[in-house]
Amino acid sequence: MRRTFCALALALTLALVCAGCSSTGAEADAGAVEVPELVRAPNESTQPNQLEVSLEAREARKSYISGPSTAVWTYNGTVPGPLLDAKQGDELVVHFHNSLPEETTIHWHGVRVPAAMDGTPRMQDPVPPNGTFEYRFTLKDPGLFWFHPHVRSDEQVEKGLYGVVRVGGSDEPTSDRESILVLDDVNVMPDGSLPTYLDDESKMLGRQGKTLLVNGAASPILHWRAGSLDRFRIVNVANGRFFNLSLPGYTWRVIGTDGGLIPEPYDTERLLISPGERYDVLLVVHGEPGTRVTLVNEPYERGHDTGKEDPMPVADFIVTGEAPLSGRVLPQGFPKLERLQDGTVDQRLVLNEDLHNGELVFTINDATFPDVPLIDVPAGSMQRIEVQNDSKMDHPFHLHGTFFQVLTTNGEATAPERLANKDTVIVPQMSTLKLAARFDEPGGWMYHCHILEHAEGGMMGEIDVAPLR
Ligand code: C2O
Ligand code: CU
Repeated sequence: MRRTFCALALALTLALVCAGCSSTGAEADAGAVEVPELVRAPNESTQPNQLEVSLEAREARKSYISGPSTAVWTYNGTVPGPLLDAKQGDELVVHFHNSLPEETTIHWHGVRVPAAMDGTPRMQDPVPPNGTFEYRFTLKDPGLFWFHPHVRSDEQVEKGLYGVVRVGGSDEPTSDRESILVLDDVNVMPDGSLPTYLDDESKMLGRQGKTLLVNGAASPILHWRAGSLDRFRIVNVANGRFFNLSLPGYTWRVIGTDGGLIPEPYDTERLLISPGERYDVLLVVHGEPGTRVTLVNEPYERGHDTGKEDPMPVADFIVTGEAPLSGRVLPQGFPKLERLQDGTVDQRLVLNEDLHNGELVFTINDATFPDVPLIDVPAGSMQRIEVQNDSKMDHPFHLHGTFFQVLTTNGEATAPERLANKDTVIVPQMSTLKLAARFDEPGGWMYHCHILEHAEGGMMGEIDVAPLR
């Protein structure tokens, strides 16, 4: 109540003070930072159609909140790491150097790479401390992707090792502004440190923290202009937290997800994003100068009473004093996607949890990684994969190396407007999804729950696409 009143009073004050001026909210938001823009990695190449960058994994310190700073692990010193900004068809060359005290790799989440470039221990010897590796591949698909380690990923990602790859396509929708929002959360202790041990709740739900981050900043503000068509490309890099975003007074127009634009955009009040997923949305800004709306993470029941948590503010959006733009319209549709055909089930994966010698573990077909039976498929084959979740919590299922489409959920066919290429999808508790994927690229590919504590806790397996090389 009080919050609402304050926000209202503030909005009114700002509207009065700032009518006609171009910067608003400066005094009112003393201390609050603008959502930081990701820093582009400079292109070291002079070749056309090539993005060549250097990435160094190294330790640094970061102030997430006021008080002592936090020891973090970074790419090139920042959390998030640099933005790799390329276009479809570009070759990406990454000179990677590991300055961390332990081994690591870079996995290109969602990017269709040759298996040897996928950064999983199955296909690449982890890069030792002071070691180097060159990643080199062509960016086949437009979209928003991200990168992170695939070694002890629950700890390494939590410490700050993540970054974004944006691949521009030929049919990008027009917008007045495009912002990338990288969502995360951290549990900062009074001495600034992040907990090193895994308590029972973190084992169960994945590490969660009370401090929500947008591009590494806690409770930032974002100024936007009335009438403008704003595009947001959102990725959830948190270990365990699901983001369920609402922006009061607005409806999200979803235009894309993991594998790029979708043929039929749709509207939703709540944008639910599990760890690993991406969403691409458009909004037309409205309101008087100074109008403030709070982006809220609404509770969502993913198991163990998470639905009873309080809503949490993520960021405040404030309308600037600039003259409103007019005539902006939301797009209705994009080029068709080839719909993968349904068929008989080729592979069945049952997700569950179990106790092994008193330890909570997460299982696939009753086994834990690396004992989950290997799946062999021929290159070029289409596979229908049934993923059945027998546990009382949601698991975001992630597949490497190819996109999949969700054919059915509990036997019900996916609505035409939800047809999308995905690499990560929520398998709700006690539910079954049927997926279709074509495996074109030979090699070994991993699949796992993207709650990283679940993956490291056993819920991970491998698909070998023959011939392996
Ligand atoms: Cu984003 Cu196998 O991971
Ligand atoms: Cu899981």
